[in-house]
This record gives sequence, structure tokens and C-alpha cells, in this order.
Amino acid sequence: MSDDPIALAEALIASGRAAEAAQGLRARLAAGRGGLLARLTLVRALSASGQTQGALEEAREAVALNPGTAVAVLALGEALLAAELLPAAIAELQRALRLDPDMDVARLRLAQAWLKAGEAQRALGVLDTLEASPQTQMLEQLARTMLAAPRSDAGYVRHLFDQFAGDYDQRMIGQLGYTAPRILLDLASLVMPGRQDLAILDLGCGTGLAGLAFKSFAARLDGVDLSPLMVEKARARGIYDHLVVADLETALAEQGPVYDLVLAADTFVYLGDLAAVFAGVAGRLAPDGFLLFTTEAGEGEGFELGPKRRWRHSEAYLRQAAIKAGLQVAGLVAATPRHEKGQPVEGFAVALCR
Ligand SMILES: C[S@@+](CC[C@H](N)C(=O)[O-])C[C@H]1O[C@@H](n2cnc3c(N)ncnc32)[C@H](O)[C@@H]1O
Repeated sequence: MSDDPIALAEALIASGRAAEAAQGLRARLAAGRGGLLARLTLVRALSASGQTQGALEEAREAVALNPGTAVAVLALGEALLAAELLPAAIAELQRALRLDPDMDVARLRLAQAWLKAGEAQRALGVLDTLEASPQTQMLEQLARTMLAAPRSDAGYVRHLFDQFAGDYDQRMIGQLGYTAPRILLDLASLVMPGRQDLAILDLGCGTGLAGLAFKSFAARLDGVDLSPLMVEKARARGIYDHLVVADLETALAEQGPVYDLVLAADTFVYLGDLAAVFAGVAGRLAPDGFLLFTTEAGEGEGFELGPKRRWRHSEAYLRQAAIKAGLQVAGLVAATPRHEKGQPVEGFAVALCR
């Protein structure tokens, strides 16, 4: 093996002994015998040995010591990407490219970060600026598959709501005049009057606004949502019995409890094709159970993606999809779950039962 400590560490990483490489480099740096290259190699060794947090800390240190150095900023962007801290990763990768516009590896990582965040169009924009390679072609294929999917990408939804979570309630209630929970309460009083002590599942529970509205009817209240930060807010309310961070289509397809009431307040606007969710709910409803949800109203026979990247469903589609899943329409009324720029957004409030 080489005497050069960096070459030695690289060889150890290449032979699957990254943790050993990290240990050696740490000792060197602690003894004041390593510079930027040693620290960046340490970041790579820590990443390769699965020490994501350690890699992130060392990458931050590398940038603190070398703030204007593109390779250090790139390493931080990569470490943030590995830790799935996407907005920060994207910002650092863009900064690396401002420092060195020719850095193709930063461009490639930026495309990967946009893809992870479900931003296929932006990923394609970056990939267009790179020479074609098997890796760019694979990423392009992924982006095109994402764009053609009949629902919003899970990464996009997670990223979007993780960013919103901090001030979601104020924005929804204050700026957007959000009333979906209230609308669903009114619909419940029509289709299932007087029912109490219900086992309730809140699909796309977000921060828990619909859960809060229905809590007094619940013997058990469960929630599922893709966004960890929204779920954190819901958990802080202390009203849910069980909360899970998951895609609702996946969660419904698994074995689990049966519910008297399944809610989806302003959630199906992130799902175009509702076949999977209706089938999943049908398998989880008690014989006298209901699914109550709001949608944005679309035209014609199907569903379409609106300009705000929210899906709209036509009445005809909702009725057909319900029948296909073996569910009956117990109620379907026009509703305005929210406003945008002061204008009402037309929608439906729907009750399905078995
Ligand atoms: C507009 S918010 C509504 C939140 C809550 N129902 C309310 O009334 O405030 C939509 C929520 O649905 C979640 N969501 C969207 N698609 C989802 C999916 N496929 N699986 C799980 N959660 C999803 C989002 O993360 C977000 O928290």
C-alpha cells in the first residue's frame, strides 16, 4: 500500500474498509496534519461507511474553513443530499455551480436532488446542460416516468409540505380561507347523523386540522401523512392515537384496523387516479363505514393536473371510480374548500360508503 495517507484512505474506501479510512483521517486531522483534501476524503469515507451525520458535520467544517471553494461546497451539497435535507442540498449545489460553473458533477447531483424532491421538470432542465451518459439517461428516464405518472410524486409532496409545515395552519386558515374540515363535518352530519365513538382514519392528516374537527366523534383517531414535519405538528396536538409517516396508498394496502370513518381533507388533490386509494379504503371500512373527502372540481369524464400542480376530478370520474371500487355515493355536493388570491376554488365534498 501507498505511503500517501490520502491514497491509502482512497484504497481502503475502494476495498470496502471505509470506516477504517475515516478513523485514520480523523486522527490525522486531529493532529493538525491534514488540509482540505484530507477532510473531503474523510467526508467520502464517512458517507461510504454509512455515517451520514458525521459526513455532514465534516462537510460543514470543510466549508466553514474554505467558504469560497467549490469542491468543499459540493461535498456539503452531497452530504445534505445523502441526509435527504433537500432544500439545503439544492441551495449548496447551486452555490457550488456559481463558484465553478463548469463543475459537471455538481450539475449531476443537482439533477438528482431535484428528482428526489419530485421536481422532474427542473431535473430535466439541469440534465439538458450535461453531456449524455448512462447516468444522465437513467435520470432522464426517471424524470419522464415521474411526469407521466397519474398522481403527484411522493418526494414532491413530502418536500412541499415539509417546507410548509412551520406556518401551514396560519397560511391555510388565514390566507387561503381553508374550510375543508368544516365542510366534511357538515357532510358527516348529513350522511351519518348522531354517530359517535368512531374509529377514524385521517388520510393526509397534515398538521391535524381535520383530526381536530372530528376528535369529539372519535373513540380512536389515526393519521397517515407523507411529510415527517407535518406529522410532527400533528403529534404535538396530542389528539391522535397512532400516526404514521407513509404514503397513504401503501398504508391502506397493508393489513390494519377497520374504520367507521376515513377522512381525506384536501388530500386527493395530490392523487390523480383514485382507483388505488378507493380500493384500499374499501378494504378498511366497517360495513356501515364512510369515506368523506374534498376534491377540486374538474371538467369532463376524468381527472387533470391544474396549474398549481393540484389534481382536479370531475364528478363523472368520482362516481365511476367509486363504483369500480365497490363503493356507493352517499353524498356529493359542490363545495369551496379554499380560496386562492381571494377567488373561491370550486370543489366537491363527497361521501362514499360500502
Ligand atoms: C393540503 S394538506 C391537508 C392536510 C389536512 N388534511 C388538513 O385538512 O389540513 C395535504 C396533505 O396530504 C398529504 N399527502 C398528499 N399526498 C399524500 C400521500 N400520497 N400519502 C400520504 N399523505 C399525502 C400531504 O403531505 C399534506 O400533509
